[in-house]
Amino acid sequence: MADKSDLVLEVKNLKTVFFTNSGLFKAVDDVSFTVKRGETLAIVGESGCGKSVTALSLMRLVPDPPGRIVGGTVTLEGTDLLALDEAQMRAVRGNRISMIFQEPMTSLNPVMRIGDQIVEAVRLHRAMSAKAAWNIAVEMLRLVRIPEPARRAREYPHQLSGGMRQRAMIAMALACRPALLIADEPTTALDVTIQAQILALILDLQKELGTGLVLITHDLGVVAQTAQRVIVMYAGRKVEEASVEALFADPKHPYTRGLMASIPSVPASGAATQARLNEIPGTVPSLVRLPPGCAFAPRCKLAVKRCQDEYPPLMDWGGGHLAACWRAADVAEVA
Ligand SMILES: Nc1ncnc2c1ncn2[C@@H]1O[C@H](COP(=O)(O)OP(=O)(O)OP(=O)(O)O)[C@@H](O)[C@H]1O
Ligand SMILES: [Mg+2]
Repeated sequence: MADKSDLVLEVKNLKTVFFTNSGLFKAVDDVSFTVKRGETLAIVGESGCGKSVTALSLMRLVPDPPGRIVGGTVTLEGTDLLALDEAQMRAVRGNRISMIFQEPMTSLNPVMRIGDQIVEAVRLHRAMSAKAAWNIAVEMLRLVRIPEPARRAREYPHQLSGGMRQRAMIAMALACRPALLIADEPTTALDVTIQAQILALILDLQKELGTGLVLITHDLGVVAQTAQRVIVMYAGRKVEEASVEALFADPKHPYTRGLMASIPSVPASGAATQARLNEIPGTVPSLVRLPPGCAFAPRCKLAVKRCQDEYPPLMDWGGGHLAACWRAADVAEVA
């Protein structure tokens, strides 16, 4: 097992709720995981299962109201981010922990030149002259392989293509060399060839800079190609966690099996697939009124009475392969 000092991020029992007109619900319910230096952890699950809220919780960017982090710890390089005040958090965000989004315009300012935006991000965290920061900005644009970076730095976001904007956002996120990068569906909005390029770029930079990466994706093909560990979320909870090899070789949760059934074959060699995780019959239950037992039980072919009545705890099925399912021991035979 990894030495503790290897850990960039340790999330323990994270709980984030939303207060809405239809009631309070737990968008993230008791989720724990770790990321080591240079490691990629993938978070997968259907739409609405809490992936983005988990990411926003790590960044302390959950909109409050209606949301609030109500429990747990998020320890980044030894510091619990949830215990920081907002000023301390601002010093960490964009510096030690950064996030890139599906839509680059979420983080880019449309009325500011690309280079100036990176300069601003750098000078927020590093005492240096505008000239030195500008040089870093151009260097970062070169690092993300934007051609003619010195010229591009003087352009506005709308002058760049979608793929180039995504690169600029990555340049900005990595400008301070964060220990952890969170990428929430970073390529979904792009067309397929550009997707592959951007993903390859993120992985190259991650290797080069030793950044820990939390990669949120719908695409199990991407997971197989990029991640070392995976967590599978369902209705706000972590229902399975394993190394990529173990997850694909021997998925323990019927939900994970359902997700995998939606791709034609396990992409062991890393061929990109466009499979989306949306082909399991039935829908994610309303988070406001979750059943007392397993939230997946109403959609699960293996469900027995116990599944309806009692929530299954996460159990270790060997070598850190965790799954929360009463039927996990039988899943390979039955499913
Ligand atoms: N600002 C908000 N106000 C109220 N509810 C929210 C808010 N943001 C997210 N939620 C709810 O929290 C739950 C988890 O949402 P989240 O965005 O984390 O899902 P996701 O797994 O990222 O889905 P997707 O794959 O579609 O991006 C959903 O029920 C969603 O409707
Ligand atoms: Mg999301």
